[in-house]
Amino acid sequence: MAHLSVAGFEIYKGYLDSGAQDRLVTAVRDVVRDAPLVRPVTPRGQPMSVQMTAAGQYGWITDRQGYRYASKHPRGTPWPAIPEPVLAVWRALSGVDRHPECCLVNFYGEGARMSLHQDRDEASYDWPVLSISLGDDGLFRMGGAMRGGKTQSVWLHSGDVVVMGGDARLAHHGVDRIRFGSCSLLENGGRLNLTLRVVT
Ligand code: SIN
Ligand code: FE2
Repeated sequence: MAHLSVAGFEIYKGYLDSGAQDRLVTAVRDVVRDAPLVRPVTPRGQPMSVQMTAAGQYGWITDRQGYRYASKHPRGTPWPAIPEPVLAVWRALSGVDRHPECCLVNFYGEGARMSLHQDRDEASYDWPVLSISLGDDGLFRMGGAMRGGKTQSVWLHSGDVVVMGGDARLAHHGVDRIRFGSCSLLENGGRLNLTLRVVT
């Protein structure tokens, strides 16, 4: 494992070994069975390239009504609980004693990306956001709190964990592209990203 600090983003390269990655994928499959991935639309009606679902008391959603946290999946069912192996990563690396209330599940298929944004729909920015990467490599771009500033990029690989806290909590970030098929963890390729958030 190697630890990298880039503009306040704490990056734990290779934090999860292959056994831990397999256990997380199994846990995510259970979540997706109860709460299927959906391809949401932005408030302006643009379909996102990333597919999403969530676990926990809240899920982050977007539709014509806007970006927000919701206590139910768009189909009307409560979100499944955050799996224990996911919580274990939070306990080990978040540095805080509060539990996350949302585990957002992002799935990047071939060609999917996520434009530069801030995570700012939470009630407080005092808590970190923790991100777990599984599957194909993703080019992660990191900037500052202001729009249009300088950015730096790193390739995130399966098993990497990023903690966005302190100065990085409101920093811009996004995924420019993935290397589809670069990792054999997910049978049909693609990249899974889990982000853990304290919402209320
Ligand atoms: C996100 O910002 O929600 C996702 C980040 C990632 O996919 O690495
Ligand atoms: Fe984000």
